[in-house]
Amino acid sequence: MKEELKIIILEDVQYDVELIEYELRREGINFTSKQVEIEENFIEGLNLFKPDVILADHSLPKFDGVSALEIAKKIAPEVPFIFVSGKIGDEFAVDMLKKGATDYVFKNNLTKLVPAVKRALTERDELTELKKSKSELQIALQEKEMLLKEIHHRVKNNLIMISNLLELQSHYIKDKTDFNFFRESQNRANSMALIHERFYQSADLKSIDFGEYICTLATDLVSTYVTASGQINLITDVENIFLDIDTAIPLGLILNELLTNSLKYAFPVTYGCRSADGTSASQSCIISESVSKIPTITVVFHKIGDKFELIVKDNGIGFPKDLDYKKTGTLGLELINRITKQIDGIIEMDASEGSEFKITFKELEI
Ligand SMILES: Nc1ncnc2c1ncn2[C@@H]1O[C@H](COP(=O)(O)OP(=O)(O)OP(=O)(O)O)[C@@H](O)[C@H]1O
Ligand SMILES: [Mg+2]
Repeated sequence: MKEELKIIILEDVQYDVELIEYELRREGINFTSKQVEIEENFIEGLNLFKPDVILADHSLPKFDGVSALEIAKKIAPEVPFIFVSGKIGDEFAVDMLKKGATDYVFKNNLTKLVPAVKRALTERDELTELKKSKSELQIALQEKEMLLKEIHHRVKNNLIMISNLLELQSHYIKDKTDFNFFRESQNRANSMALIHERFYQSADLKSIDFGEYICTLATDLVSTYVTASGQINLITDVENIFLDIDTAIPLGLILNELLTNSLKYAFPVTYGCRSADGTSASQSCIISESVSKIPTITVVFHKIGDKFELIVKDNGIGFPKDLDYKKTGTLGLELINRITKQIDGIIEMDASEGSEFKITFKELEI
């Protein structure tokens, strides 16, 4: 041990101090010591002398080792505190160790003093190192979280920018079908932007409340496609289930496609529908006899056992009888089928009353 140790010796008997110092020197410990006997000097020593080790007797005429230990734990908790005493019993020693003492040595067996000091200092250094690593790790973790937030923020902004570019460009399009292609791509970008927004707002940056996302996305889409609110009844029966990004993004896209389809095709003649060029077409829309019930889109999202179930259904005209939803040759359902496969899900369709799509999947293990 090359460094010069600063040692407080709490001891009233001069002879014992000399014995302790002799033992330390004999074992080659390089040190300066400060002998204290009363509380005031002990506190001053902790604050100004700043010891590396405290060696304390159990009882002194005007002070005692137990009180000294309590004070040391408050002022300098990291400094090893070793009892050097003649009359401590095993029970007392164990009690002191529980209260934070590092070790205890008997005055009649001082050969154990230096090994105890060395051991205590090694433990202190290890603890200091551990604390340093822990705080470095915490800083790294905070930086990582900041970075992740920043990335989600930027990705969201870029997706919104793409959506805005599509919107701007769509103004130059005369053909209604082409115009709709642009608007749908815009919706896809928006649905992903919303996921990234939810992620950087989330507490743990790892998962988002997908139930809450469903409500926001569904309301946004309804207001995009329907001019007068209330013309389409939106029912959401969703659980607040938290999903990670690898599940949330694909599922968000599926939801976007299914909702868009219901809004576009289920109620071809109802009040408040927007014409393809985005202008209101409410005046020319008439409720047909066959769709006299209130146009309703329902989204259900629940966890059943270890599986999640997403249902999007409408009470509209129904999915075309002559169309196989697994092979439509159109982008929307192609996306839905592919993404469902990607998340190891199953897709089922029920066209007995309107259209109902059910996606069942397990959360991906990462
Ligand atoms: N809820 C629904 N009600 C009635 N018909 C539907 C419904 N969903 C889909 N369809 C029919 O299925 C067809 C295929 O849908 P799909 O989403 O694959 O393509 P799309 O919506 O026409 O175009 P896009 O590729 O932009 O999504 C639609 O054109 C429509 O005829
Ligand atoms: Mg579609």
